[in-house]
Amino acid sequence: MERTYLMIKPDAVQRGLVGDIISRFEKKGFKLVAMKFIRLTQEMAEKHYGEHADKPFFAGLVQYITSGPVVAMAWEGNDVVAVSREMMGATHPAKAAPGTIRGTYAVDIGRNVIHGSDSVASAEKELAIYFEEAEFVQWDRTV
Ligand code: CMP
Repeated sequence: MERTYLMIKPDAVQRGLVGDIISRFEKKGFKLVAMKFIRLTQEMAEKHYGEHADKPFFAGLVQYITSGPVVAMAWEGNDVVAVSREMMGATHPAKAAPGTIRGTYAVDIGRNVIHGSDSVASAEKELAIYFEEAEFVQWDRTV
């Protein structure tokens, strides 16, 4: 079954959006298989966002993502990588469709509420930063 890594970012935790965001994925029918409430270290943030290391916004991105707790999650389901990105909306919240998570809650690309893996390969890499294999919970979602 396909898996993705979703992370509710510090701005969303501060604004009390955790429940609504998780609820959207639950109600869609995806299955939560791992979750942690953590504060990223500088090292974790640099590893996660390593592909952006040469971008001008990199230092600010690392500063922001380590500024407070995040909710790190693994979700499973059919086409969960692509569908969850549709549900999140465009990376730049000003371009995100109304009704999507970013379209509903954000306007600033530097405070865009949620991260989701952009491919199955990225999901595998990102999940390995946050979870040990034994932390993925085996259970059946029957409805
Ligand atoms: P995310 O989906 O977590 O993946 C990379 C992140 O980099 C992205 O969301 C934004 O939060 C951030 N980002 C991308 N472009 C910019 C930018 N121009 N300025 C600030 N942050 C950016």
